[in-house]
Amino acid sequence: MATTSFLSSTAFVFISLSVISLLPSAYSADFSVGYEESAVPKSDLDLLEFPLNLEYLEAEFFLYASLGYGLDKVDPSLAEGGPSPIGAKLVDFDIVTSDVILQFAYQEVGHLKAIKKTVKGFPRPQLDLSASMFAKVIDKAFGKPLNPPFDPYANSINFLIASYLIPYVGLTGYVGANPKLQGAISKSLVAGLLGVESGQDAVIRALLYEHLTENVSPYQIVVAEFTDRISNLRNKLGRTDSKDEGLIVPVDFGAEGKVVGNVLAGDQFSVAFDRTPEEILRIVYGTGNESIPGGFFPKGANGNIAKSHLQSAKLYN
Ligand SMILES: *[C@@H]1O[C@H](CO)[C@@H](O)[C@H](O)[C@H]1NC(C)=O
Repeated sequence: MATTSFLSSTAFVFISLSVISLLPSAYSADFSVGYEESAVPKSDLDLLEFPLNLEYLEAEFFLYASLGYGLDKVDPSLAEGGPSPIGAKLVDFDIVTSDVILQFAYQEVGHLKAIKKTVKGFPRPQLDLSASMFAKVIDKAFGKPLNPPFDPYANSINFLIASYLIPYVGLTGYVGANPKLQGAISKSLVAGLLGVESGQDAVIRALLYEHLTENVSPYQIVVAEFTDRISNLRNKLGRTDSKDEGLIVPVDFGAEGKVVGNVLAGDQFSVAFDRTPEEILRIVYGTGNESIPGGFFPKGANGNIAKSHLQSAKLYN
């Protein structure tokens, strides 16, 4: 009797200790407990906050396109009082695209929550998602104005082409951030976000790939050429070697130098490209300069990294 109770109380102590020793990691893996900045090394904070800019952009673009409204209605607390986006619109999608974009929209809402439960973050920056802004990007990609101007909200194909501009930039940013992160929580968050962003990019590319050689109405320009031009523009704006590839590439750039089809972009070993926050800012500002805001972020992106570049530009101007 005494032995049994000794054994069971030892077992009890042992189990209690194991539960306690499990607590910190269980706590950190479970984002439902809330804000955990204290668990994230200081050096990771800016790198984890920076992608909020892109997640806001994606959330609003996909929400408006599929629902006709954005975070102000879906979850106003996530916007933290930041200004409403300019020009985003509902799209008259086909059934499959409508279904997929709505899923993406809520995935982005989840991403905003995941980042904000890990780091303090910042309010939604001013976003310009107007058709005329997209038209300017496309004109720049073609080096001449399209007539009529490209409308991202006109139909499913146009919206997918406009979307081709977006999760991919987030993806390359997550690949670029990963080796700079110190903490396990940071790495796990970024790997998880990267997984889904890459998935979104793959779905967008695959849906476009089915229409590769079709004209984008009303232009006499096929889908493949649109993707190629947009990728080339991103390479130019980022001011790096090729980190972006269209849906068809010269065979030397295809997987193992053996194929011209390029449903997923990757380097010579089919490993995803990386981009720094500066390269990303140059692209999403459309100015090729991280110190000169514009494009999707007419007043600049938010957070310490983006602000440091806007600040240094102000000092010299
Ligand atoms: C970027 O813009 C800043 C501020 O106008 C300027 O000082 C800098 O030279 C520009 N950089 C490049 C590479 O053009």
